[in-house]
Amino acid sequence: MAFESLGEYVETLDRAGQLKRVKTKVSANLEVAEIMRRLMYSGEQPAVLFENVQDSTIPILGNAFGTLKRLQIALDCQNFNDIGERIVELTKMKIPSGILNKLKMLPRLSEIADYSPKYVDTGPVTQIIEKNSASFNSLPVLKSFMGDAGKFITFGLTVTKHPQTGVRNIGVYRIQIIDGRKAIMHWQIHKRGAQHYQIMKGANKPIEVAVIIGADPATVFSGVAPVPEGLDKFLFSGITRKKGTKLIKCSTVDLEVPANAEIVLEGYVNPNDTCMEGPFGDHTGYYTPPEPYPTFTLTAIMRRKEPIYLTTVVGKPVLEDAYIGKVIERSFLPLIKIFQPEVMDFAMPPCGWFQGLAVISIRKQYPGQAKKVMMALWGMGQLSLTKILIVVDADINIHSLDEVLWAITTRADPKRDTMIIDNAPTDTLDPASPLPNLGSKMGIDATTKWKEEGFTREIQQLATVDDETFELVNNKWKEYGFL
Ligand SMILES: Cc1cc2nc3c(=O)[nH]c(=O)nc-3n(C[C@H](O)[C@H](O)[C@H](O)COP(=O)(O)O)c2cc1C
Repeated sequence: MAFESLGEYVETLDRAGQLKRVKTKVSANLEVAEIMRRLMYSGEQPAVLFENVQDSTIPILGNAFGTLKRLQIALDCQNFNDIGERIVELTKMKIPSGILNKLKMLPRLSEIADYSPKYVDTGPVTQIIEKNSASFNSLPVLKSFMGDAGKFITFGLTVTKHPQTGVRNIGVYRIQIIDGRKAIMHWQIHKRGAQHYQIMKGANKPIEVAVIIGADPATVFSGVAPVPEGLDKFLFSGITRKKGTKLIKCSTVDLEVPANAEIVLEGYVNPNDTCMEGPFGDHTGYYTPPEPYPTFTLTAIMRRKEPIYLTTVVGKPVLEDAYIGKVIERSFLPLIKIFQPEVMDFAMPPCGWFQGLAVISIRKQYPGQAKKVMMALWGMGQLSLTKILIVVDADINIHSLDEVLWAITTRADPKRDTMIIDNAPTDTLDPASPLPNLGSKMGIDATTKWKEEGFTREIQQLATVDDETFELVNNKWKEYGFL
């Protein structure tokens, strides 16, 4: 079922025993974040709805997507690969010539129409529209760690439009509150929101933004998804939920947002007004130090009468973002395979906070192919920010770090099989890079080496059990007295 709103999703979680309602009064200042972290660190815990928040009438929803099971419910999807497969299918679609062939295509064409956004004039999010009275102070924004610079909106979906092409983006970028009408927009330099902003900055103009807080789960997911350039993120959320999202015009900016959203903050980001943002306890487990970012000025708030404030907390892995990252990993594998068909599997272990390290298994067909795959992935969207790539053969289960380390230690020679590239783009959050946004990359080719790759020693064979002994032991297993 495609959820129309966050509220529908919350009700479903409740019925499925996947939601804990906390009625005890809690503070958005440090307390809520610590509860959310503890729940995530302690394993399979439910999502949590804080219904009694000090100084606020708005309940806070946390850890909403904090297990793979909840993400399967949220995106109505057992196998996350399907999301990428649907995009691949749509990109293959060509309109054939001939009336009969065109008629045969009609069901496929209507599929795209079904996924496209639908425009409506009213919706629950317009129940309350505040302009002059709009203030961030009306929201239960969390402070997460004592050393944070203040309160941060952490799960806002920032909508911008490419100033030249008009293609819409949705990005999850944290926002630090300065006062009732001003905040700081932490869109990192490599992200699309920042790129749209840079184009407007070149023309010395502010950029309009709308920040959605709480929407149907597919729209939330599209805010974190690194979709291919040029793909409208509202179309992507429609593809994800297999149904177009209902969109409505904002009240003070020329942007559209989901009509069923909980809260929408409207405003603009001014290129001539920057502030120091941070420190903020980040995905890496460290405080990201202060850096200058542009300010966001609030012009209006649209919201439901009784909205839910969706939030997330980050910190040393494994927290909620790890599960969301797992869905990105699974759903984008089909897109990687379009250009790199030798790739069998792809994994971003959560302990590597995603941009830190990725492992790829390939079916190797020619010498040096592991390096070709590394170079290709470092040239592909946000994978360009990944610090360490490890390439292994297809027989390695890349979701087991034991197997990956075994492959590295038995199939790679550090001098021959390690590639270092200096002065490359790196993730803004990398605590170890020599400069912010610039660092080195390491590629480890842990595939078995061939004679054609200069391996002149005799190639050692894998020591594995022969078929006859395997069958014999299989058949006598119970007889030995083992279960
Ligand atoms: C919980 C969470 C918080 C995030 N916070 C930020 C952030 O503050 N700034 C940022 O640039 N990216 C942040 N990201 C990553 C982006 O949302 C992600 O890269 C996304 O694909 C947006 O990139 P795009 O705008 O280029 O599509 C965050 C991701 C998650 C899951």
